[in-house]
Amino acid sequence: MKIKTDKSKEYESNRFIYYFTIPVMFLVAKWVKRKKEKNPQPETNSFFFDGLSKKCRKIKEAVTARDTVTAMDLVDNHHFSTENGVIDGIITHFWFGLMKNARALRNRKKLNKKIFKKNLTEKLKNLSKEETVDILIVGPGTGQVLIDSLKEDDFLNDERVNIVLLDKYKIALDEVQRRISEHDNLRVSFEFLNEDVFNINPQTFSNKFDIIEMVGVFEYFPENRQVVEQLNALHELLKDGGCFITTNVTKDLEKYVLYYVINWPSKFRSTDEMAEILQETPFEHCEATFEPLKTIPIYEIKKL
Ligand SMILES: C[S@@+](CC[C@H](N)C(=O)[O-])C[C@H]1O[C@@H](n2cnc3c(N)ncnc32)[C@H](O)[C@@H]1O
Repeated sequence: MKIKTDKSKEYESNRFIYYFTIPVMFLVAKWVKRKKEKNPQPETNSFFFDGLSKKCRKIKEAVTARDTVTAMDLVDNHHFSTENGVIDGIITHFWFGLMKNARALRNRKKLNKKIFKKNLTEKLKNLSKEETVDILIVGPGTGQVLIDSLKEDDFLNDERVNIVLLDKYKIALDEVQRRISEHDNLRVSFEFLNEDVFNINPQTFSNKFDIIEMVGVFEYFPENRQVVEQLNALHELLKDGGCFITTNVTKDLEKYVLYYVINWPSKFRSTDEMAEILQETPFEHCEATFEPLKTIPIYEIKKL
């Protein structure tokens, strides 16, 4: 697997902040862990997290209810604000402005957009007017990444682009649909499929895909075996020359913060682990690009 880092200026890139924030975050996580040994679901995880910050509480409540779409949206669009008071603003910013995983999540959004647009541009190049680029997006969340990518390069007006959006939560698809409806005169075609990705197979669709994007979903597959099964199924759904774009967050000490303080369990996988998983699939070519915090790589996996 080829591994590189995108070091361009557009990202949140200060890696030293981590060494200042992690001792405090880790201590809070240890405290919450102890508290949860007595009461697994406390009303407040920590006074210094959901006790003092309304936004931290909202994010915690969203992930606890498995509504990662709302939680991700709040983290993605975080800016320092004192709308709920100065203390609330500072606490919220300490967690979601400075935490490496939160910054990496925002970087991932930018990097994902870049990689998606690059692949779509490549596919559209040399395409006749009658041919189409068929795209499957698994787990679009709010669809913000997709819509921004399409908008920026005027892909929204390209009638050769067909997109199927698949999510197991209807609430996510409803939100994407609402955001798409804010744009007039779209020529891209959209289809929505409310389904669990584990249930799809080649018979689910009328055609194969040039690009399949599934970003921020493998983190919810606890077993590597499930990732292998999914990669095998998606390989069958790709056209020859097609590209599968995916991610998996890598591990650092913040994993305890995510788990205990935010109630956000994730399955972390290193690039080595992903390379081992890929060896059990028919995919032969994979390139991983890290954002500058080196926390979340985006994998471009090609079916040759
Ligand atoms: C963390 S969000 C990622 C959103 C978006 N891809 C992004 O990069 O911002 C995970 C998305 O995957 C969806 N999802 C999780 N498990 C799924 C499954 N088994 N089948 C289909 N969708 C799933 C969730 O509903 C959510 O929309």
